[in-house]
Amino acid sequence: MTFDFGGLTSYNSPRLNMSMQYSEKTPMNADASNRPAAPAHVAFIMDGNGRWATHRGLPRTAGHRAGILNVEPVALSLMERGAHFITIYMSSTENWKRPVEEVSAIFDLLVEWLGEAAPRLADKGVQVRHYGRREPLPAALLKQLGSATACSPPNPSLVLGLAINYGGRAEIVDAISRLARDRVTADAIDEDALSDAMYTSGVPEPDLIFRPGGELRLSNYLLWQAAYSELYFSQVLWPDVRDEHLDEALTAYWSRNRRFGGLQARA
Ligand code: FPP
Repeated sequence: MTFDFGGLTSYNSPRLNMSMQYSEKTPMNADASNRPAAPAHVAFIMDGNGRWATHRGLPRTAGHRAGILNVEPVALSLMERGAHFITIYMSSTENWKRPVEEVSAIFDLLVEWLGEAAPRLADKGVQVRHYGRREPLPAALLKQLGSATACSPPNPSLVLGLAINYGGRAEIVDAISRLARDRVTADAIDEDALSDAMYTSGVPEPDLIFRPGGELRLSNYLLWQAAYSELYFSQVLWPDVRDEHLDEALTAYWSRNRRFGGLQARA
């Protein structure tokens, strides 16, 4: 299934306008199924894998396996509902504090999943991108991310952003370093310049950030980009997120009044 990008030929539109163009075109119900439509960009925090496993008497890695296997169905469901960008927080710059066995099991699962899923996602018009610091990710994972990116379609229906070894603060620091390295002068530094220097350069800001797992915080996720995102928190654990939970989140999203600091709702 392909999607109309509204005549846009580039993702490099002004940050908020880009998001608006998509949102304004999106009806409440995406299709004949009567399911709520998705806005342009939905971001998730992959939370609850460990508890999902513990509740079943399984090792935490079984929860991470169930979690990674839920990425594709969620992404494809939202693509069918009209989303063009899905971003998933899979590991943070702070998650290195976890036991080394768990961290390396997560990276092994990612390598395995990318090798298996990336060609299929590419066939479905999904472009994979990595947001985060490459150092000190294992070479096998960097290689698999490179292959997934290389086999991605150039004109995708969906951009699937994988936030791996990602930190919102680290991203801002890296963006500023990049501007300094490129010798951008102080008077040329504005919000657009900084946005363009982020890992997410060219991607509109998330319209909706969905955190399953019951916690009510962003945990260093998309700190720059989330300025006007709608936040949705749910008790459901990530591996259990299904269409019905997406329906609930999207229904909540469409009931919000996004004013972006003005007096009138824009989307
Ligand atoms: C933020 O909460 C959540 C994340 C950064 C996602 C963490 C998910 C994993 C490590 C499992 C990923 C598994 C695979 C196979 C990719 P937090 O728990 O880091 O922060 P908090 O302590 O503030 O809740």
